Amino acid sequence: MMQIEIKRIAQSRINEVDFDHLVFGRSFADHMLVADYADGAWQKVSIQPYGPLTYQPAMMSLHYGQAIFEGMKAYRSKQDEILVFRPEENFKRFNKSAVRMCMPEVPEEIFMGGLRQLLQMDKAWVPAKEGCSLYIRPFMFSTDEYVGVSPSNTYKFIIFLCPVGSYYAKPLRVRVETEYIRAAKGGVGFSKNAGNYGGSLFPTQEANKAGYDQIIWTDAATHQYVEEAGTMNLMFVVNGALVTAPTGDTILDGVTRKSVLQIAKDWGMKVEERPLSVKELVEGIQSGAVTEAFGAGTAAVIAPIQVIAFEGKDYELPARKESDFSSKVFHEINHIRLGEVADTRQWIWKV
Ligand code: COI
Repeated sequence: MMQIEIKRIAQSRINEVDFDHLVFGRSFADHMLVADYADGAWQKVSIQPYGPLTYQPAMMSLHYGQAIFEGMKAYRSKQDEILVFRPEENFKRFNKSAVRMCMPEVPEEIFMGGLRQLLQMDKAWVPAKEGCSLYIRPFMFSTDEYVGVSPSNTYKFIIFLCPVGSYYAKPLRVRVETEYIRAAKGGVGFSKNAGNYGGSLFPTQEANKAGYDQIIWTDAATHQYVEEAGTMNLMFVVNGALVTAPTGDTILDGVTRKSVLQIAKDWGMKVEERPLSVKELVEGIQSGAVTEAFGAGTAAVIAPIQVIAFEGKDYELPARKESDFSSKVFHEINHIRLGEVADTRQWIWKV
């Protein structure tokens, strides 16, 4: 049985946080889980006060990008239980990312067992307010002090927690990106590694300058097919069917994505995991065949898209209605996460 050394914070910082006005990713709970990998084994697992760590300038992850992460959320039910949405899926995906990035896999007892203990210690930080949750950020990075491109021998695995509100506050204006690429066949696009996000910053900034919130990545070979948005997977309702890009080397196998697809199937909706061309998308918006566009991700949850820009032209989606699939699935996921409906698919993990 793994031993976790516990060092408690002297004085909780919880009163410094304004839980009525939570901004995504700016507040951090009292404690973090920290585990070290060295000499071929995970060791020294501790829960300690969230705070700075000291590293050498030659730490390899800063130079060669061996750094991966995950995102999950914990909710407080009306019965005051702490519920986490499908964390085993994130655990599995984390280790897939680790293998692709030549990093050691994290054992379940450290990832899931450590998370349980951490959440038990910081459960006061799980917001009760509607629309808010405790975002969970597990991550791992290489720590060898060495100049040379090779896998590191040492790593650190950390989980910290952030009480959060919404990631996107309003329906999005997005622009189809046809110059830069996020991922290519054979690359690392399916893994949740830091470099995928670093590479997205410049094109996203260009889109922001032009008045758009996000970009829609297209396939690297032809720029003709819709991929994902970088912070979330993309979904469309086309002629009544739910359409999303199939997972593969270039698309993150999103937990919200697969949950939405499952709910749609359970509701009897037609689901098509297939390449969707930008041409079909914009023509569909014009003809009325495309009735909804939205992003699906842990941070974003369900993020409605209002405008899609392509080749200098804005294509406006119909205003979002409560009867839309994206509204209904958003409410359904919320009910499941808050334990308000029967958990028939075993998606909830109680702390
Ligand atoms: C998440 O949805 O949890 C992510 O990791 C995306 C990140 C950009 C916040």
